Amino acid sequence: MFSMRIDKIIRHSDDVSTLFFSSRLRSYPGQFIMLNLPRYEEIPLSLSSPNSVTVRAVGETTYALIRLSAGEIVGIRGPFGKPFTPTDGKALLVAGGIGAAPLYYLHDYLKRRGAEVKVLFGARKAEELVWKDRFSVLMVATDDGSEGLRGTVIDLLKEEELQQYDRIYVCGPEEMLRKAFTHLKEKEVLGKAEFSLERYMKCGIGVCGTCILEDGSRVCAEGPVFSGKDLEGVEF
Ligand SMILES: Cc1cc2nc3c(=O)[nH]c(=O)nc-3n(C[C@H](O)[C@H](O)[C@H](O)COP(=O)(O)OP(=O)(O)OC[C@H]3O[C@@H](n4cnc5c(N)ncnc54)[C@H](O)[C@@H]3O)c2cc1C
Ligand code: FES
Repeated sequence: MFSMRIDKIIRHSDDVSTLFFSSRLRSYPGQFIMLNLPRYEEIPLSLSSPNSVTVRAVGETTYALIRLSAGEIVGIRGPFGKPFTPTDGKALLVAGGIGAAPLYYLHDYLKRRGAEVKVLFGARKAEELVWKDRFSVLMVATDDGSEGLRGTVIDLLKEEELQQYDRIYVCGPEEMLRKAFTHLKEKEVLGKAEFSLERYMKCGIGVCGTCILEDGSRVCAEGPVFSGKDLEGVEF
């Protein structure tokens, strides 16, 4: 574990903040870190850029994190895990809620490689569309209709002509991942799709078995990014 200073914090809403570290981490989009705040449980967080994490408060540790001040020190292990497979061609990013975090990093990374990137972003309400302005070509859906289409990101996905994309990347809550998986399978494009999964984690390095899927894959080691083909027949 190494120590890192928080240089800057952006508070997007009451429960979502981005913490910027003093140094960039040698990493790839889709990888995560184990972040240790003294006196709290160590938790996994995806990198939202080489030097940031974007955190939604859901419990003790994440609430403490979004309330940190610049200058404070956190402990970090990682980056760990399998990243997204990049493309130089046409990419579709499908983001649900805080699931957009690793896709910010992926979006910027793919654009730098010259890829053509389109983003579908869904959230419960407009204020949860955190950092939407960072995405170039964007379609938005909100459950309450406060911005974009009234509906879900899956409704947006169903409108897409999927054969045109070289790669499709999906990240969000479990139910959204499952619905996206079913749709992409029906459309016979699972072979070019990748999904970022979340599981409760302890070690983050494939040792403790906490994050294991029913086929024996460890989300921290074989994932968190899995190809559509890897997930066929697996309960997730
Ligand atoms: C690989 C990976 C990457 C992640 N990336 C991010 C990220 O970029 N940003 C981010 O905000 N979170 C991310 N998470 C989720 C984050 O790790 C959890 O929200 C955090 O561990 C909760 O800790 P806590 O102590 O605040 O809450 P806890 O006290 O552990 O949990 C509080 C409540 O939240 C629920 N909860 C726990 N984990 C999750 C979860 N994953 N999703 C929804 N509810 C949960 C619990 O069931 C409980 O009801 C990621 C998780 C994984 C495995
Ligand atoms: S968290 Fe220990 S094996 Fe994945």
